Amino acid sequence: MTARSPEAVGVVGVGWVGLVTAACFASQGHEVWAMDVDAAKVERLSRGELSIHEPGLPELVREHQERLNFTTSMDELLANAKLLFCCVDTPPTYSGDADLSRVLSVVEQLSGDSEHALVMKSTVPSGTGESIRRDLPTLAYVSCPEFLKEGTAVQDFLHPDRVVIGADPGDEWASDAVAALYEPLGGEIVRTDVASAEMIKLASNAFLATKISFINEIANVCEEVGADVTEVARGMGLDERIGDKFLQAGIGYGGSCFPKDVSALKQLAGNSGYHFQLLNSVIEVNELQKRRVIGKLTKHLGSLVGKRVALLGLAFKPNTDDMREASSLVLSARLQGEGAHVVAFDPVAHEGAEGILPTVELADSAEHALEGADAAILVTEWPEFAELDWAAMAGSMRTPLIVDGRNFLDPAQVRAAGFAYEGIGRGADA
Ligand code: UGA
Repeated sequence: MTARSPEAVGVVGVGWVGLVTAACFASQGHEVWAMDVDAAKVERLSRGELSIHEPGLPELVREHQERLNFTTSMDELLANAKLLFCCVDTPPTYSGDADLSRVLSVVEQLSGDSEHALVMKSTVPSGTGESIRRDLPTLAYVSCPEFLKEGTAVQDFLHPDRVVIGADPGDEWASDAVAALYEPLGGEIVRTDVASAEMIKLASNAFLATKISFINEIANVCEEVGADVTEVARGMGLDERIGDKFLQAGIGYGGSCFPKDVSALKQLAGNSGYHFQLLNSVIEVNELQKRRVIGKLTKHLGSLVGKRVALLGLAFKPNTDDMREASSLVLSARLQGEGAHVVAFDPVAHEGAEGILPTVELADSAEHALEGADAAILVTEWPEFAELDWAAMAGSMRTPLIVDGRNFLDPAQVRAAGFAYEGIGRGADA
């Protein structure tokens, strides 16, 4: 058997998914051409400078720089690679549908093309591939949704659970080439049609979000009946049919994917004439979950007018500086709406927070955020928050009260340090 020569890879859109895709394929020995319309970003990346916080990614980019070509030129991409991975973002519109304008501007540039394959990694509504095929019948089209998580993106990409490759008859050369790129990574390769591949992505994210909203509602019931949701989740998760992942109750899911994709699937169903009742509840539960924290504070403090409330963490989850749709945004606005003064600390989301939360006081350490505070809310489970000297923190606060929005701290330990502790669904005193 002769060894396959590495396939050159084109990447369009060098955001989170695009950069991880580019760096990981480069690490597998492929020459990568990555294009973005943002000239300043391309220039920074060519110098090896990254503007996102993603563990392992800077090292990977630096290590494989000789195979990573960043450019603003689509022609350069077309001249060097046959497979063009489309990784542009599809943010939500005001109606909740996905905004496909960036995808369509990529498609426009491929009009009349019969040499290349567009490999769609951007999350798009089911039916997008079909409409692109209608407009560009000679272009090969493959749906290859991405399942990586921010914070563990490199690991997820290089060790996938599964790789979904959707293509319609006539485009086998392209889907075979994509499959060959992924085969060395392991993980089952799911070959299917384009519409089903698009649906697998949306349904997977909607299912995970449903799991989170479900356990959050169980947590709320646990508070009423004196049960502990962490015990309930542990007991449930051992059933293989349920599984233990994504059963952590908290103050709701955030990020650039779940809120957008759940809403996009709901709209997609609605636009096709089906009312997706369950997803309405998933979204509503998530919204209410962020706000329940206010009740936990007022139970101890009464009115929040003039109270100083410290937020520990701003990012939508640890190991990222991403604050898109983070629970901290709704929470800080609600607290300010109640008349509280909000002070916050995040180990990495700090710089971005200045522009997004102009009325929130940003502290340079967790200790400074907690000093003189009437209450603390743990918003993001950054490991370093578990290492804080909680007895010293209790001494420095005006009222040693903590709402643990991620059930991250050990309640017994924090109570022993002098705190009133409120978790999410952790018994009657939670
Ligand atoms: C999510 C999916 O997990 C990825 O598979 C998918 O590729 C990605 O969206 C995407 O569509 O691009 P991500 O948004 O990076 O990944 O982060 P997750 O780790 O899934 O967390 C999402 C939110 O759910 C976070 O706010 C997290 O705190 C929350 N969460 C997660 C819970 O509240 N409880 C849990 O048990 C798990």
